[in-house]
Order: sequence, then structure tokens, then C-alpha cells
Amino acid sequence: MAIGNQHTTSICLINQKGGCGKSSTCFHLAGTFAAFGRRVLLVDADPQGSISQGFFGSDAVEQLPAWDTLAALFDERCHHIDPEALIRPTQIDGIHVLPANHHLAAFNTPLPEQGGVMQFALRDFLEPLPRFDVVLFDCPPNLYQCSWNAMIAAEHVLIPIPPEDFGTQGIRAVHQAVANARVLNPSLRRLGHLITRSDRRMLVHRAYEARLRDLYGELVLQTTIPELSAFKVALACRLPVQMHAPKSAAAVVTRQLIEELTQRIQSRKLHKEAA
Ligand SMILES: Nc1ncnc2c1ncn2[C@@H]1O[C@H](COP(=O)(O)OP(=O)(O)OP(=O)(O)O)[C@@H](O)[C@H]1O
Ligand SMILES: [Mg+2]
Repeated sequence: MAIGNQHTTSICLINQKGGCGKSSTCFHLAGTFAAFGRRVLLVDADPQGSISQGFFGSDAVEQLPAWDTLAALFDERCHHIDPEALIRPTQIDGIHVLPANHHLAAFNTPLPEQGGVMQFALRDFLEPLPRFDVVLFDCPPNLYQCSWNAMIAAEHVLIPIPPEDFGTQGIRAVHQAVANARVLNPSLRRLGHLITRSDRRMLVHRAYEARLRDLYGELVLQTTIPELSAFKVALACRLPVQMHAPKSAAAVVTRQLIEELTQRIQSRKLHKEAA
């Protein structure tokens, strides 16, 4: 199911592992897409509200009433949702945010397949919105209703993985969730695994990366996101790294990531057209 116009690219970042760089990758990717002239919507589908806080600050975000956040889409008490009011411009030209905070937690229930019409809340809200080129969904560290809603609404899944844990069980659960979501959203595809927070000086990181490439082959993106303080510093200044330090290695690697993602998306479209 396409969101907005047919040229909209929608990607959700999913992993049930916490702290693997989902929000950071979303935040900085948005900045680079915007610098390339793309109109970006960041959907904060996480009750932690990391993306929202990244742009608007934690105090302002915590004070938002439910009806000014993504929770309004799930809350029967919020009638007559006005997209213009819910989707907020940020200080960065070309980036809008659908914010979230603690109000979303009550709706992020396990067993999302049993959520009835709630499963389609995000998709139904976003589908008629025409004005975005890129929609990025930042998801919480679990595979409950919020991640599920994002997978029902998006076309692509990007799975950030830090190269530290040799167990692949968590990844299998993500793959299974994507397969389950495809029953309701047949257009959903895995864009790939993105190795994040990598420190190539560490033998264990190099070994884990090699193992992931062995196991998952081309599903693992060539671009890896290193652990770099520039990402954190830019976030602390409430700016994506492309705006804060465009010449930094962090900005360069984010541009490389967009190039690789774009190539993957294009070749997927060509395959679809040829099929
Ligand atoms: N490549 C990186 N280099 C340096 N710091 C990073 C990098 N990626 C993430 N971080 C930092 O690590 C912390 C956790 O990252 P982030 O919040 O993006 O993870 P997450 O997967 O969204 O976590 P959660 O599952 O709790 O939502 C943050 O402080 C973030 O700034
Ligand atoms: Mg996060």
C-alpha cells in the first residue's frame, strides 16, 4: 500500500534490540534527505519520543497532550484529527515530524495481529497525505503494535544491528514479524541489515560483521555506520549531522547510506516493473 503519491519512499527502522541506533539513524537520514531537497516526514512511532525530543526538546515533547501526538490515531476519544495540526514543521526546512510521547505507551500492546482496525491506524492516516517524498518511521525496541503499524504502513524495512551480539535469534524474530506483516501489507520488503555503531578497531566487531555477511549475504548493506561522536554532538544541538557538520565522516557516511538505499529501492522498482 503506497503512502502519499507513487514516488513516496517509506522506510521503517525496526529491531527489538534497544540502543542499536534506530532513532539516531532516522534522525540523521532525515537531515541528509532534506539537504538533497526531499520533503521528509519523520513518524515517531516510539512512546520514548526520541525523534520528537531530538527536534523539539524533552520538556516540550513530554507536555504534549495525547491529541497532539501519534497516540491520537489510536485513541477513540480523539475525534476529527487534523493532519495539519498533528504533523509539525521542524527548525529544518523540509523536515516534518509526527510526534510521540508517553501517551503512546498505552496503545503499544503485544499481539498486534489481534488489534483489529487499530493495525491500520498509521497507514490510513498517512495514505491520503500527498506532500512527502520520504517517510521514515522510528520504532520502539519491540515488535508490538507501534512497530506493527509502521510495517503495515511502510514499503521498506531497514534493520539496524550493532556488531556485538553473536546471537541471531532476535534478528529471526524481526524477519518473522516482517513476514507476518506482509500478509496485510504485501508491498513490504526488507531493504537490508544496516550495521550500526561499529568500531572496526575492535576484533569482536569485525568478527561479528563478517559473520553477519556470511549469514545474510547481500541482505547486509555495504555501508556500515561507525560509532562517531559527531552523531551524538549534532543530536545534542538538535541538528542532523548533515546540517551540523556537513564535512564530518558522520555526514559523509550518511550520504553514502542514502546512495545505497536509493540504489536498492530503484533496482527493486525495476524488478517489479520487469516482472
Ligand atoms: N553511530 C553512532 N555513533 C555514536 N553514537 C551513536 C550512534 N548511533 C547511536 N548512537 C547513540 O547511542 C544511543 C542509542 O542510540 P539510539 O537512541 O539511536 O538507539 P535506538 O535503537 O533508537 O534505541 P531504542 O531502542 O531505545 O529506541 C544514543 O545516545 C545515540 O545518540
Ligand atoms: Mg529509539
